[in-house]
Amino acid sequence: MDILLVCLGNICRSPLAEGILREKLSKHGISWNVDSAGTGSWHVGAGPDKRSIKVAKEFSIDIKNLKARQFSVADFDRFDLILAMDESNFEFINRKASAGSRARVAMMLDFLYPGERKSVPDPYYGGDNGFYQIYELLDRACDALIDELVREKVHTT
Ligand code: 4NP
Repeated sequence: MDILLVCLGNICRSPLAEGILREKLSKHGISWNVDSAGTGSWHVGAGPDKRSIKVAKEFSIDIKNLKARQFSVADFDRFDLILAMDESNFEFINRKASAGSRARVAMMLDFLYPGERKSVPDPYYGGDNGFYQIYELLDRACDALIDELVREKVHTT
């Protein structure tokens, strides 16, 4: 399985989600590929926001060497599942998707809150607190995602 996590800048939410999901998959002994990207290009090549790095580090997850990149239509061919952090990221990705690719696009919190279309709030302009809040949300979202996808795999194989 190849999973891409997408936010706006690829420096706050999606690299944190990438680090958390990688860590959990590794603990479960699952070798899926996880990557992240931003819909915007402002931060391409930059490392994660220092607040995301700090929160991740407090939970023993190292994301400091990740580098931001911009989402591209080529990602539709490379990933089985593309998860948007918020409604605006979701719409951006969907506008670029062919009819056949659209089924692979969902929201990060869909597994935790099915049918509610909830967003991971953008913490960029807030203080450290917002980063702790999104960590907690992403941590639970990744558990829900793994539960659901592993169950699906068991039923389809
Ligand atoms: P992210 O947060 O989408 O979670 O990486 C943001 C990062 C940068 C900006 C906005 C949100 N920005 O406006 O530069």
